[in-house]
Amino acid sequence: MKIAPSILSCDFSRLAEEIRAAEAGGADWIHVDVMDGHFVPNITIGPVITEGARRATDLPLDVHLMIEAPDRYLEAFVKAGADSLTVHQEACPDLPGTLAKIRALGVRTGVAVNPDTPLDSVRHVVADIDVLVIMSVHPGFGGQRYIPGSTAKLRRARLMLEELHSVAELEVDGGIDALNAREAVDAGASVLVAGSAVYAHPEGAAEGVRAIRKALGA
Ligand code: DX5
Ligand code: ZN
Repeated sequence: MKIAPSILSCDFSRLAEEIRAAEAGGADWIHVDVMDGHFVPNITIGPVITEGARRATDLPLDVHLMIEAPDRYLEAFVKAGADSLTVHQEACPDLPGTLAKIRALGVRTGVAVNPDTPLDSVRHVVADIDVLVIMSVHPGFGGQRYIPGSTAKLRRARLMLEELHSVAELEVDGGIDALNAREAVDAGASVLVAGSAVYAHPEGAAEGVRAIRKALGA
């Protein structure tokens, strides 16, 4: 069971401190939400900030590319220190080709599907990827509410991974907090992304991570 705090909701004037606080709280990965203002209506983090995050921690950087035509930037994010690159099924006309490029760069491969995207759209690649990301909010912003139908989709995704003998992590991304973390894990999620639940926690990010871990009974 891994917890991957999303730095999208952190105080960027104190990025290194905020990353280290999440790490002190027991974070397993650091989730880096990259947005280009085209694939999603927001612009956030690029290779420069990713490189800054790289200097702040040795934890795996789980880079989530919410960008059009991600092939153009794979190398730049790997150079910046990404340990895994997740692309969106909706942004990749040649998903197997894009995944092969990520694999050739020597980092973990991830595919994300939006709430309205059917799981069948990634069936042909899940046997060979490292992370399948189920978006439980519409991508673009932190602090949104978990879409309830995501739990059933996680269950279906877990069944699909088992059926196809995939060893991919099943990551859920969006609106996860201490109240619904257990539900997501019971449905089959193995990685929980949490941004606002961690960084808006009244006692700070370390406590935010601990609260989710505690809710899981760990
Ligand atoms: C949304 C991002 C998510 C988001 C998570 O587009 O992919 O990673 O930042 O933040 P919370 O946990 O606040 O929904
Ligand atoms: Zn994300």
